[in-house]
Amino acid sequence: MPEQNLVLLGPPGSGKGTQGERLNEDLRLPYYATGDILRAAVRDETELGRSAKEYMDRGDLVPDEVIVGVIADRIDSNEARDGFILDGFPRTTPQAEALDAKLNDLGRALSGVLLIDVSDEEVIRRLGGRRTCEANGHVFHVEFEPPQEDGVCDIDGSPLIVRDDDKPEVIRKRLETYHEKTEPLVSYYDERSVLRRIAGEAVPDEVAEQVRRTLATLRMEQDETV
Ligand code: AP5
Repeated sequence: MPEQNLVLLGPPGSGKGTQGERLNEDLRLPYYATGDILRAAVRDETELGRSAKEYMDRGDLVPDEVIVGVIADRIDSNEARDGFILDGFPRTTPQAEALDAKLNDLGRALSGVLLIDVSDEEVIRRLGGRRTCEANGHVFHVEFEPPQEDGVCDIDGSPLIVRDDDKPEVIRKRLETYHEKTEPLVSYYDERSVLRRIAGEAVPDEVAEQVRRTLATLRMEQDETV
């Protein structure tokens, strides 16, 4: 099967992580979520975490030069030779250009960029009710995907917390940052014919079904060009 090099794009809270976990199970490809990588670095108090924390807490993006190397190393690793799923990267035009350059060096290209489309109002509803597993980042929602036991992760029994950047004033800032810095990537990838839109306001199972159908179409298109 041809390699599948995929990007999940979309505003904060659009469901990239929710769909990324499902895709990871379906496709068995390495899944690199820059938010998770950075939060783990903050928790472990590494140099990366120390340089990222203040930006994340404010709802700003960490500088491009901090994050680009982190992803470039992973794409270049043996585990990613059949493909990868990126969530939360790229988020700026310089990051997208750096990704193109890296893939080009490796003789590879993106197979698809899935834009999970949701409105700002839906983002605010989703992030306001999100609960995240402290130990492993599993995601729930008090209304849309409630855990079986209040405040406890169904998967590993860890406490569920509200992320520091899910406070209302930070959510607003993250949305502003998305519109200013990340939304230009929609036309960037549309112009390169790799963008596919997913209607993200449906229930998670239906969004997952759209993602599966979109990937099947992308694979057929890839097969026709081989
Ligand atoms: P990151 O963790 O990537 O945050 P984000 O992009 O803002 O995305 P989220 O994790 O908040 O949301 P999501 O789309 O994954 O939605 P989820 O599935 O959880 O980044 C955090 C920070 O790190 C950034 O602000 C930045 O500072 C830094 N950073 C990361 N990458 C960077 C980069 N490349 N460059 C620079 N800085 C970077 O779903 C949300 C909620 O909705 C959940 O509660 C879920 O249960 C619920 N839900 C999901 N789908 C549905 C549905 N279909 N219907 C109803 N509810 C749903």
